[in-house]
Parts: sequence; structure tokens; C-alpha cells
Amino acid sequence: MIIAIDGPAASGKGTVSKRLAAHYGLRHLDTGLLYRAVAKTVLDSGKKPDDTEAAIAAATALDPANFDEAALKSAVVGEAASYVSAIPEVRAALVAYQRDFAATAPGAVLDGRDIGTVICPDADVKIFVTAAPEVRAHRRAKEYAAAGKDGDEATVLADIRKRDERDSNRSASPLKQADDAVLLDTTNLNVEQAVAAAIAIVERNKKR
Ligand code: DC
Repeated sequence: MIIAIDGPAASGKGTVSKRLAAHYGLRHLDTGLLYRAVAKTVLDSGKKPDDTEAAIAAATALDPANFDEAALKSAVVGEAASYVSAIPEVRAALVAYQRDFAATAPGAVLDGRDIGTVICPDADVKIFVTAAPEVRAHRRAKEYAAAGKDGDEATVLADIRKRDERDSNRSASPLKQADDAVLLDTTNLNVEQAVAAAIAIVERNKKR
């Protein structure tokens, strides 16, 4: 079974995806890490995230087996990832890896922005996870505080709004709910409620 999860930053899609993968015995790929790794390679080489040549070279040479997930989860890398991910050649260089991951037994949960629309248009179940921007900013600021990182809520909210705008309005594979995706709004749900709602969606929609 292939489950496609898309949605904006801090919507809860990462947590829901991990929990769905564990529940159904599937592999899990956080595809945001691929774009974050490209962005970090560009930043580490002293280039700007909108340096198209550097980003394409980094995407082409990417080795997803060697990710340092903690280093990729910073706000600076996330912001840079939203620039490199708008470059069509960067996206194209990462398609095969994602499709192979999805096609490998026993199946997978992939989360990102274009999984249901572009990477796995034939996924068995598609869920679009969202939440009000203020709630997403509150969750993200709490995560930063727990990790000992800076991030006051107003700044996080401003960043989230900017990122939503860039991710939704780019021409290459923008953030968009697939026509056949089920909407899961987690604004008023805690983690357990969101996971239970996602499992109920899979049970109702999976192909038998
Ligand atoms: O989900 P995230 O915050 O780790 O994603 C980081 C950036 O990568 C985000 O701004 C948009 C981009 N991204 C994308 O364009 N397509 C994906 N499938 C996943 C992430």
C-alpha cells in the first residue's frame, strides 16, 4: 500500500505519517528532508539558496542514505529548502528516488507537498493535512523551545506564512490538494485524535 500525505509546514503531516507507517507496517519517507539536504549542501558551500546551478548540482549528487536529520531540521535550512524546491531541475532530480522508495515492498507512507499530485498520483490513499497558520506556528515554536532553539511565535508565524505563499505559488509542483485527496484539518485535534482520524481515512479509502 502507498499512502500519500501532503500539507503545509507544521500541519502535523510528519507525525501523522510516521504513526501511519508504524500502524500499517510500511516504510516512511519525509520528502522535505531531500529538499532540506539540497539546501544545506548549497548553504554549506557558501552559496545562496537561489543559486540555481549550485542547487541542481547538489540535487543530482544527493545521497539520501547519509542524512543528518537533526541538522536538516533547522529553520534556516527549512527556509532555504523552500527556495531550492521551486527549481524544476532540482525537483526532477529527486523524482526517481521517491518513486523507487514508494514502490519497494511492503509499500510506504511518503509526506511532502506534491506526493499525491506528482510523485505518486496512483497512491492507494491520499490525505491533505492542514491546520490554521496560528496553530501551526504555536506547535513549531513549542518544538523549537523544546529543542533549545530560538523562535518566538510571531516570527515563526511570519515565516510560516511566507513559506506557504512560496510553496503554493511556485509553478513547479506547487503545494496543492489532489482532487482525490481527503482533507484532514488538525486545527482542533491533538496528536492522538489526528492519528485516529488519519487511520479512519485510510480504512475508508484503501483499495482492497
Ligand atoms: O516539509 P518541510 O518543512 O521539511 O519542507 C521543506 C521545504 O521543502 C518546503 O518549504 C517545501 C519543500 N518541499 C517540497 O517542495 N516538496 C516536497 N515534497 C517536500 C518539501
